[in-house]
Amino acid sequence: MQTNSWVPIFPDQASTFAWQVDYLYYYLLVVSLVFSIPLLVAIFYFAVRYREKEKYATPEEIHGSIVLETAWSIIPFIVSMTIFLGGAYVYYNQYRMPDEGTEIYVVGKQWMWKIQHEGGQREINELHVPVDTNIKLTLTTEDALHSFYIPAFRTKVDAVPGRYTYMWFNATKTGKYHLFCAEYCGLNHSGMVGYVNVMSKEDYEAWLGGNVSGQTPVEQGRDLFENKLGCASCHAGGPQQRGAKLEGIFGHEVKLTGGGTVVADEAYIRESILNPGAKVVEGYQPIMPTFKGQVTEEQLLALVAYIKSLSGVTASSGSSSTGTSGSTPAASAAAPPAAGNSAAAATANRQSTNPKAPAANSNR
Ligand code: CUA
Repeated sequence: MQTNSWVPIFPDQASTFAWQVDYLYYYLLVVSLVFSIPLLVAIFYFAVRYREKEKYATPEEIHGSIVLETAWSIIPFIVSMTIFLGGAYVYYNQYRMPDEGTEIYVVGKQWMWKIQHEGGQREINELHVPVDTNIKLTLTTEDALHSFYIPAFRTKVDAVPGRYTYMWFNATKTGKYHLFCAEYCGLNHSGMVGYVNVMSKEDYEAWLGGNVSGQTPVEQGRDLFENKLGCASCHAGGPQQRGAKLEGIFGHEVKLTGGGTVVADEAYIRESILNPGAKVVEGYQPIMPTFKGQVTEEQLLALVAYIKSLSGVTASSGSSSTGTSGSTPAASAAAPPAAGNSAAAATANRQSTNPKAPAANSNR
């Protein structure tokens, strides 16, 4: 368990790796002080001790010292290697995604954070998460470069135009923590702030239940795929299939026309929607039109979530460990009427957050 940071100006330590970042930082501070203080003292001491007492004095010559030279090689080596190993350890912990986790999608936009949960709940500039649970964020942006920064969790990752980036954390304390944009992104960059609400698992379940609104990412993706964009006319199974098979591909290698392979990951799916000619699957013609400019980043995320679900990779694969059973695509697909009713009944207590979503969308 972590406690409040004992340095007053530091934010809370509220994630599993926050203390590691802090200790690395303290270590760097100590190393800096251990080198700089003796250096300053020596400057003044030597200035006095060896001041000129006699004009044109000849100093005594020194012919090297094995002990001294070994010491000033080995000590800095140890110091720099401990900094490197400590930094590598902390970095690995932060940027290697855990296998299991609750997935959340984040889209940056001038000047707000749009967040969607795997159960379909949407938020703006607020992120509700359960305590003691791995949370995996997939981030992108509709416009400029932004950076998703939660100081209390000691983690930050850029949201980069045209690609997906990932962040994970496991919050250790319930509470409300600052969320910042940490990359200058235009006029209202400084206003692109929000809060992360870390809730007990029970409170989080209640929050999810009171906020089911609209489609889950997978449902939204299926709707786009089958109806709005007409992807299914070529990609659905059957004898007339003209587009590449999408079932079971996610995470696997795909053979390409003209040789070579590619792993079908989120980035590849995204690229294939926006620039279908770039990497055509072997055995298919490059006949697919681009959807660039026709789909928003949120719709792209939904399409990716749906195509992942065709491979049995549901966004909620990690939710068994969190107990968010209601958020599996199958469950929510079967549940819309009931969910809609209970959501309507619960509208009263969510009006503070929900109406923001359509309002924000209409700003676009
Ligand atoms: Cu977004 Cu700064």
